[in-house]
Formats: sequence, structure tokens, C-alpha cells
Amino acid sequence: MHKNINNLSVVELQDRPEFTEKCINYIWTEWKYDYFFHTPYTTKELLCKYIVKEDATENHDSVKNEFPKVFLLLEDNQSLVSFLMIDTDDCDMKKYVNTTTENTIWLCNLYTLPEHRKKGYMTYLLFHVTHNIHILSKFCKVTEKIEIYLWTEHQHLLNYYRKLGFSMFEKLPKVFDSNKAGTTTKYIMIYPVPILSKYSTLQY
Ligand SMILES: CC(C)(COP(=O)(O)OP(=O)(O)OC[C@H]1O[C@@H](n2cnc3c(N)ncnc32)[C@H](O)[C@@H]1OP(=O)(O)O)[C@@H](O)C(=O)NCCC(=O)NCCS
Repeated sequence: MHKNINNLSVVELQDRPEFTEKCINYIWTEWKYDYFFHTPYTTKELLCKYIVKEDATENHDSVKNEFPKVFLLLEDNQSLVSFLMIDTDDCDMKKYVNTTTENTIWLCNLYTLPEHRKKGYMTYLLFHVTHNIHILSKFCKVTEKIEIYLWTEHQHLLNYYRKLGFSMFEKLPKVFDSNKAGTTTKYIMIYPVPILSKYSTLQY
């Protein structure tokens, strides 16, 4: 794991808007084809508007608690090392999940800056977000079972996610993807969160 976790903090992008451009640039570089082909956010600008909820003029407090939400992991409260987003779906993958509950969250855009990889930062951030009752209760009924999903095309990450507690939910059929220079397979993984009560101490 990383040497010192005391200098790490998790903050929401809406509270540190100075990181917006950087995050959107990384997301667009990494996932632009997925957004382009599978969402209405076909440009970086549209995606940015969606993520920062630029069109929302309503009551700020209610907007604050709405999906999507980006969580940043900062070192010394000032340098960005990792981030991830939670949402109700990710690039139209929800349709493959025939679940009986609406109590679901999708983890999207998991990203650690290249120079900070393999130090345990994403493990820390992921655990923080998925085990924090204060975060989850804004989006889910924590008194019911919560299902957290993610999808990946990176076979080499499957064991990593398994180690974190995810299990394989579905392997989609191979498709040819000219944008990604070959065939790709999407894997959907699930992380079931146990029923929590408001007295739960489950918080990282
Ligand atoms: C996937 C990604 C988010 C992982 O972030 P990360 O911060 O490097 O993740 P971690 O450090 O928590 O763990 C990554 C690996 O480093 C290992 N690791 C953790 N701490 C380590 C350390 N101190 N020394 C060496 N390895 C370490 C972990 O065990 C894990 O290895 P494994 O795959 O063999 O299990 C990052 O590689 C990334 O941003 N990739 C590009 C975007 C992407 O593909 N995102 C995922 C889309 S599904």
C-alpha cells in the first residue's frame, strides 16, 4: 500500500471545481468512444456539462446530492492522484443487468494518474466510497441490499477487481470495435453491499 495514508483526503469534485478540467480531460482521453457511441454526451463539452450539472439552476442542496458524483483522492489536500464517478448507469450498460432492485450504483471512470499507479490509491478510494454510509445513503436505501456494478474491457483488471471483492456478473459477447482496433469483450462485475443500518459503523 502507499506509504502514508494520513496525507490522503477524499473530496467531491463539486467542492473542488478547480480540478474539473483536469478530470474531464482524463475521462475524455480514456473513454471518449464509449461516451460518443453509448451516451448523449458526444463531445467533451457535453460530458462536462453533465458531470458538473451546469444546467441545474434548482435548489443547490438537492442538486448536490444527485448523480453523477465524482470523488477525488488528493494528496496533501492539493494534488490529484485518483478519481472515480458514481452514477445510475455507465454508458448504457444497465440494460444488461436484470436486477430486481433499483438500489444500484455504477462505478465509472476509475482513474489514477499514470505517475501514481500501483501504490494502492484506487484501492483506497474505492473502499472509501463503497464503505461509507454517509455517501451511499445519499443515493440508496441503505436499509436494503445495495448492488454496486462496474464494467471493464480490460481482462488484466479482472483479478484486481476480484481482489477488491467484486465478482463476475456477466461477460458480454465479443464485438468488433474499429475505434479500439480489434475485438473487445465487456465484463460486468458486481459488488454486493450488505444491508446497513443507520447505526452501522461501516465507514472507512
Ligand atoms: C486501473 C487503475 C484505476 C488502478 O489504479 P491504481 O491506483 O494503480 O490501483 P492500485 O494501486 O490500488 O492497484 C493496482 C495494482 O497495483 C498493486 N499495488 C498496490 N499497491 C502497490 C504497491 N505499493 N506496489 C506495487 N503494486 C501495488 C495492486 O495490488 C494492484 O495490482 P494487481 O492488479 O496485481 O492486483 C489505473 O491503472 C488506471 O487509471 N488505469 C487507466 C484507466 C483504466 O483503465 N481504468 C479502469 C477502467 S475499468
